[in-house]
Amino acid sequence: MTYANYPSLAGRVAVVSGGATGLGEEIVRHLVAQGARVGFVDIDVPAAEALAAELGEAARFLPCDVRDIPALEDAIARFAAELGPVRILVNNAAHDLRHTIDELDVPYWDDRQAVNLRHHFFAARAVAPMMRAAGGGSIINMGSISAHIDLQDLVGYITAKAGIEGLTRTLARELGPDRIRVNCVIPGWVMTARQMRDWVTPEAEEHIRRSQSLADKVYPADVARMVLWLAADDSAMCTAQKWVVDGGWL
Ligand SMILES: NC(=O)c1ccc[n+]([C@@H]2O[C@H](COP(=O)([O-])OP(=O)(O)OC[C@H]3O[C@@H](n4cnc5c(N)ncnc54)[C@H](O)[C@@H]3O)[C@@H](O)[C@H]2O)c1
Repeated sequence: MTYANYPSLAGRVAVVSGGATGLGEEIVRHLVAQGARVGFVDIDVPAAEALAAELGEAARFLPCDVRDIPALEDAIARFAAELGPVRILVNNAAHDLRHTIDELDVPYWDDRQAVNLRHHFFAARAVAPMMRAAGGGSIINMGSISAHIDLQDLVGYITAKAGIEGLTRTLARELGPDRIRVNCVIPGWVMTARQMRDWVTPEAEEHIRRSQSLADKVYPADVARMVLWLAADDSAMCTAQKWVVDGGWL
């Protein structure tokens, strides 16, 4: 198969959270392949440094735990100082740790919201002035199919992922007058290396076969291509929406 190129992404500055591995890594690679200059943060320093070394000048890595909001704001400011005003933000970092309801005490609950939801808002607020001054921008929040299907032991994660959809709509309204678009990408069950290692058992494969309309599994590149389109000027009048990449999960 051959895929689209997006001339509007050439030279544009993007920031991706959780860009070292999985979907985030694929999004970083796809943006760089379009000529964008990409800053990414992560806590997996060895994987991030290997990716940054491979991608060379086009990508910059700063270690940052997105639960630490001042550190995240500082990283965004440093990317902007080095690469230029941020025009694309992909809020991608997350952690789908399993837990029972009884395990969720207040600190654990707050931590699940901090790693999966809170940073989306503060990163958006940090880039908004730059986007406004540049005449617009695109913010892409990673939601999850988990907020729409029947799953257990993920109350903290699913609550956060559902919240991202509301955050997307309200931020789109708040920032739209400055031509800042805010969209939510909802991946289905995506075959990242970690998903394949931890969760994709033969029974899970059968579950995917039964649930998806399309025969093929969803891979990180399928989601990254949706992110490219939303980042590019091709989607100029699209905001406040959910974009589902799940193979038609019914
Ligand atoms: N893989 C799937 O099937 C799937 C399905 C639905 C939604 N999603 C969403 O897509 C996004 C990416 O998922 P993924 O499967 O690639 O996840 P992943 O766990 O494989 O990778 C997440 C990345 O974020 C980083 N990260 C985790 N905690 C962090 C923190 N506190 N600070 C900074 N970085 C941190 C990790 O080191 C990793 O590089 C997430 O928002 C996830 O909720 C994934």
